[in-house]
Amino acid sequence: MTALRIADGFRRGPAVTFDVDGMAIRAHAGETLAAALLAAGITRLRRSPREGAPRGAYCFMGVCQECVVRVDGALRQSCQVPVEDGLVVELKGSLVHE
Ligand code: FES
Repeated sequence: MTALRIADGFRRGPAVTFDVDGMAIRAHAGETLAAALLAAGITRLRRSPREGAPRGAYCFMGVCQECVVRVDGALRQSCQVPVEDGLVVELKGSLVHE
């Protein structure tokens, strides 16, 4: 998996770890879940309902709904969820493992 984080030049929040379909993903407090997933190289979050096309975060401000994932059992816009230790994220139907 490709790491996309900028190496240095600013301060980050404390390290946190959350689960994505059984994979431990490291991030930093203060990031949104969508940003943390993107930084971990996970860009395909779900499939479109009609054609099954891969979808991923687009607007990063809660408008487009393209970033919806299941977080701790509930569908949430990942760009509106602050990442925290122990979150459980399900991307069933995504292309992450393909
Ligand atoms: S990326 Fe558009 S609502 Fe989250």
